[in-house]
Amino acid sequence: MIPDSFKQDLLNRVDIVDVVGKYVQLKKAGANYSGLCPFHDEKTPSFTVSPAKQFYHCFGCQKHGNAIGFLMDYGGMGYVDAVKELAATVGMQVPAWQPRTPEEAKRQERETDLAALMHQAMEFYRAQLKHAPRAIEYLKRRGLSGETAARFGVGYAPDDWQGLKAAFPDYDNAALVECGLVIEGEGKRYDRFRDRVMFPIFNRRDVVVGFGGRVLGEGEPKYLNSPETPLFQKGQEIYGLGHARDAMREAGRALVVEGYMDVLALAQHGLRYAVATLGTATTPVHVTRLLRELREPGAELVFCFDGDAAGRKAAWRALEVCLPLATDTNPIRFLLLPEGEDPDTLVRAHGRQDVERRIADAQTLSSYLLGELRAQADLANAEGRSRFLVAAKALVQRLNAPVLRMQVVRAIAPLAQVTPEDVERLFAPLEGAARARTAPPARTRAPLAASTAEQGLLRCVLADPSLARGLADELLDESAPETAALRSLAAEVAADNAPSPGMLLERFRGGAHELLVHRAQAAVLESQLDAESAAHEFTQLQIALRIRHKHREIEALKDRVGRDSALNAELNLRIKELHQLKGQRS
Ligand code: CTP
Ligand code: MN
Repeated sequence: MIPDSFKQDLLNRVDIVDVVGKYVQLKKAGANYSGLCPFHDEKTPSFTVSPAKQFYHCFGCQKHGNAIGFLMDYGGMGYVDAVKELAATVGMQVPAWQPRTPEEAKRQERETDLAALMHQAMEFYRAQLKHAPRAIEYLKRRGLSGETAARFGVGYAPDDWQGLKAAFPDYDNAALVECGLVIEGEGKRYDRFRDRVMFPIFNRRDVVVGFGGRVLGEGEPKYLNSPETPLFQKGQEIYGLGHARDAMREAGRALVVEGYMDVLALAQHGLRYAVATLGTATTPVHVTRLLRELREPGAELVFCFDGDAAGRKAAWRALEVCLPLATDTNPIRFLLLPEGEDPDTLVRAHGRQDVERRIADAQTLSSYLLGELRAQADLANAEGRSRFLVAAKALVQRLNAPVLRMQVVRAIAPLAQVTPEDVERLFAPLEGAARARTAPPARTRAPLAASTAEQGLLRCVLADPSLARGLADELLDESAPETAALRSLAAEVAADNAPSPGMLLERFRGGAHELLVHRAQAAVLESQLDAESAAHEFTQLQIALRIRHKHREIEALKDRVGRDSALNAELNLRIKELHQLKGQRS
């Protein structure tokens, strides 16, 4: 466990704009920066980074977090690694190990329990395969040997709505639903995977975290995968990595293909350094993790895609993801296969040598980049060359590897009929000084658009945490979801003089209020609520709380009042107080 004081210090020293800006091209937009969201596919920017609040938020996919969260989500790092990496960028050293918090211990125990269930399920499916002649026949027809199937733990989910009952006598266990093996609907429980060939998916510690299930032959969906669970995030796992690791080191190469069956067929033919993404586009997490696995200088990362339009699009997208992550020492290459072929069909028809010959001829990242750019502009005239330079600029600016970048710049210069110095000048990255942390310009107050007083108060307190000191705690509605979050925020603020918004995110990480706090911060960002307006809103909302309280008192009195004249006098007093309160509103 890392002490809070260290995290606070760290988050005060780093600038999230620098951290995110390394991977995402950001443009200044008012007080904030915006760019294309790296977490989902989009054409117009909805990804916003707030230098004042030190967090990012995507209005498209709702991804949200501080600098630590960004490295975790984008770089696929664990929490501790993300803190270490961030600390290294500002020359800080993470203090020595500290005991885990009870929450951390609890979460880890939970994950261990779920992993045990997944393992048990894998063993069950594997055993079932032995008694499933149709599944065996299907795999044989696809050329898969029993040895390969066993090596990758391939199994079979029986054609039975509650087949897993045989493996789990306590079929009602909620954990079976939590790990995605069992589906619960209208009071009934049933197996997610039925009559499918099962491919277990292992994480980096070789723990089964999910399954891919294929229909035997034709049928929809062709593959059914585990849902996202506490163990399994699809965009973060790499299929076959554990099996490929040694061969990757030996060959000095990792091959990324698209399908489970591609990995298995290649391995069976002796090409064991292949891994697959799980039906998702290439993510930065994939690239970061694979480059980290390769380590040895010169070891290369090769992406393999179908040669059809969808494959070419996926390849280009992978290139874009690779740009900021590429290094000067480990080449990244792209292999487009002939249309209608995939590595499985190729290796079965022509053998391993044929696939390796294609790999040897695959384009490097730089040649692929330049080739595509050249194809899009006519370099024979000045207009075409300038278009070429503008398009190149957006891509080359994202290259972080200095030496590779220099090479690319030198290759671009003669094509555009300019000097490499011209190119450098044109491609100069955004000046650090141009985006000093400045207060947002004075503007008219944007409406808070909160649907309850508690929701509005939470937004105000996030805009200016010091407001929490004046919170009328006793007037909060116990049933409002924000109430507990507001109270724990107030406690945070009382314990610490000025927690930054980035640090507040840190305090709520993984807790029950995390999502509420994220949403409220996003609303603050969207309405550009500044401290001054927040203070005004806060006062108004507290008056609204008192009015609500007064209404409730009056209703309670009316119930009791009858002909009791003393109570009647009290009732009239409350009503008078109510009108006074209403007069305070602006
Ligand atoms: N995939 C998926 N869901 C689908 C289709 C595909 O999750 N409905 C994922 C699987 O991980 C699959 C990969 O995308 O392995 C590649 O899909 P595709 O090329 O369609 O399948 P193949 O691997 O060629 O499958 P097969 O050879 O078994 O037909
Ligand atoms: Mn295939």
